[in-house]
Amino acid sequence: MPTIKAINHVAVVVDDMEKSLSFWRDALGIELHELRDVPAEKSQVAFLPLAGAEVELVMPTSDESGIAKYLAKRGQGMHHICLEVDDIDGMLSQLRSKNIRLINEEPRTAVDGKKYAFIHPESTGGVLVELYQI
Ligand code: CO
Repeated sequence: MPTIKAINHVAVVVDDMEKSLSFWRDALGIELHELRDVPAEKSQVAFLPLAGAEVELVMPTSDESGIAKYLAKRGQGMHHICLEVDDIDGMLSQLRSKNIRLINEEPRTAVDGKKYAFIHPESTGGVLVELYQI
């Protein structure tokens, strides 16, 4: 049976990366591990690891991106919570069998080889949930 292992990261959408880092990195004092452009998602992501999990700040780098559309519609704020799972294919089938609405019917593969898929907020109590298999 597929098992959820941990909270992997919490993602926050921001419209000004430096301004957000002045809170998360400078005011709270969480170390910025990496600031990376993700051309495939037309966004920039800051990774702030914290005791086995991460805060991720996501900023659109193009008006065309999904994140830009989200930001225009809803403004800055919590974007998604990501749960690490040991068997993403198994978990997606389990969710389908329980009529949970998925955004990605099949897992996608990130540049670093991680498999991920999103679950629709309609089925989760309003929170976009990402599954990650490392
Ligand atoms: Co994520």
